[in-house]
Amino acid sequence: MKLCTTVQEMRQERAKLGTVGFVPTMGFLHEGHLSLVRRAREENEAVVVSLFVNPIQFGSPDDLANYPRAVERDIALLQKEGVACVFTPDAAEFYPDGFATQVDVGGVAQELEGPSRPGHFAGVATVLTKFFNIVQPQRAYFGQKDAQQCAVVQRFVQDLNIPVEITTLPTWREANGLAGSSRNSRLTEEERSRAPVLHQALCRARDLARGGERRRMVLEEAIRDVLVKAGLTEIDYVTVVNPETFQTEETVGETALALLAVKLGAVRLIDNMPLF
Ligand code: PAF
Repeated sequence: MKLCTTVQEMRQERAKLGTVGFVPTMGFLHEGHLSLVRRAREENEAVVVSLFVNPIQFGSPDDLANYPRAVERDIALLQKEGVACVFTPDAAEFYPDGFATQVDVGGVAQELEGPSRPGHFAGVATVLTKFFNIVQPQRAYFGQKDAQQCAVVQRFVQDLNIPVEITTLPTWREANGLAGSSRNSRLTEEERSRAPVLHQALCRARDLARGGERRRMVLEEAIRDVLVKAGLTEIDYVTVVNPETFQTEETVGETALALLAVKLGAVRLIDNMPLF
């Protein structure tokens, strides 16, 4: 497995590979990331994984500083998965003095996480555009856990005619339902034991929807009710949207997606679930 830290090294390495499946990550890998790597291996001649805590997608310096990191451990995990190349760019080379371009996505990027985390999606779209240009993958793999991010990526890849196929894989969950996230490592033991309630709240809405409930407000209220009863009151948003537009509709359709963002202690967690 090759380790590349500069853009030039990565470009040279890429030229030696055939079809490439790319898994962009911010490191601190968990089973969810590894499931993306395994799918990428099945579908491509080579897999490239990036480990880069992208500074321009963080709103607060504290959030960036506290983001968990374990590069050596990640590299060892990727080696075992048969990855061809790991790209760990240096932030100073990636964003040199004078860097002044950003990919600003409209539409879906303006909802939910958009206003909650100003600049976040522009940071994600900008770093991914750079990665796609450098790595030139045939396919790129993302987890449904970040459903809105997946929609944003689909949007700008289509809008900018970037020749990469985007694959979204189901959210990887622990046995208790907690969605895999690098941020889970920042939960205390007590918070971690309460965190599966996010999944339980989404399941409640799913059960109601499958039982015939179509009123969005009722479904949202059911999710909130489960969260609040479990003492999770720092709710950023709970919503049910059309996953094409990320807009709400009074009566939910067959493709409806429930999403939530909740703060548990110092950690902001997101999760989502298709209702049908
Ligand atoms: O989902 C993530 O980990 C990041 O947003 C991504 C896609 C690697 C871009 O930095």
